[in-house]
Amino acid sequence: MNILVAGGAGFIGSHTCVALIEAGHSVVVADNLCNSSVKALEGVEQITGMKPTFYQIDVTDESAVEAMFSDNRFDGVIHFAGHKAVGESVFEPLKYYQNNVLSTVVLAKACLSHGVNRFVFSSSATVYGANRSPLTEDMPLLPTENPYGETKVMSERILIDTAKAAPTLSVALLRYFNPVGAHESGLIGESSRIEPTNLMPRVILAALGKIQKLMIFGEDYPTSDGTAIRDYIHVMDLAEGHVAAINHPTPGVSITNLGTGKGTSVLELIHAFEKANGVAVPYELTERRPGDLAECYADTQKAKKEFGFSAKRSIMEMCKDAWNFEQKSK
Ligand code: NAD
Ligand code: UFG
Repeated sequence: MNILVAGGAGFIGSHTCVALIEAGHSVVVADNLCNSSVKALEGVEQITGMKPTFYQIDVTDESAVEAMFSDNRFDGVIHFAGHKAVGESVFEPLKYYQNNVLSTVVLAKACLSHGVNRFVFSSSATVYGANRSPLTEDMPLLPTENPYGETKVMSERILIDTAKAAPTLSVALLRYFNPVGAHESGLIGESSRIEPTNLMPRVILAALGKIQKLMIFGEDYPTSDGTAIRDYIHVMDLAEGHVAAINHPTPGVSITNLGTGKGTSVLELIHAFEKANGVAVPYELTERRPGDLAECYADTQKAKKEFGFSAKRSIMEMCKDAWNFEQKSK
């Protein structure tokens, strides 16, 4: 198939381009490079031997998107193009609503007018709010407490309504847990234009000595070691989950978690990183971060049943590959 990957120069998008090409698909990338660079696409080419066709456009720009759809015959669209910094979204809500919601509307509209029937959307476990883990797809959505999370809830709603009105459209809403790691080659990985706030990039900064120490937010959660638990998934597993979703369209809307189903605490992740890479990660236990949950991990049965997908890579591989990318990209 010929797949449009919107946001394909980004962290998850670039790895998904690799997985799509390796599965025999061809790929067109649309990205405005607001949080990425063409280096990621060069990495995709080095790994796969195939250069994705690249449109440097903003996918909220309806006329640019229309022109791209007129130039190409797409079989499916995977929509990664959005802003993702939870903290920033609190201070700049309109930036998030405009980019993340409008991009969904514009891309879905183009699919309808050009007869493209497969649409895969990057949602997030954040839509579950404070539901109790393991999180299942049929749980009622709870407030996410930040504009970023609300853009995911709204985009899901928009796509559900769109699919209701257009019976030929198949929409896959993929709810990601915590993607980390990098392609094993070290040629592509996670590099953000803004100061990272997520755990793995902060662990790397601490290991490099670029920050004095990693602050661990919360030591008194009701977990085995008192630190918070998340479901970290290797970005290549996540990428392969997208290939499974685009290859197995279901009529109407499907909602699927992409996680491993295994919870890892902050301290466990730090210790795995130290062991995998033979480096020290200085840290300090400090107060909880407002809005954080004690535990967030997936029930993964639906992904297995519907797409035949289950994540394979271990926490050690996630840590090794994330560090390898950091070392190679110096
Ligand atoms: P990323 O910032 O690395 O990738 C997003 C890409 O989209 C970037 O290349 C950026 O330049 C591009 N982009 C943004 N707005 C655009 C626009 N209007 N037009 C064209 N290009 C645009 O982020 P990522 O980690 O790869 O995340 C991809 C998607 O997955 C996002 O929608 C994000 O919200 C979602 N998601 C990410 C995580 C995570 O922890 N990384 C978790 C859950 C969901
Ligand atoms: N953490 C620290 N110190 C840090 C950074 C994070 O202790 O410097 C802790 C957090 O408190 C949390 C855990 O590490 O307990 C993971 O934090 P992240 O910021 O890496 O990830 P979150 O689970 O908070 O959020 C991520 C994505 C969101 C997404 C959410 C749900 O950033 O976009 O997962 O899937 F919505």
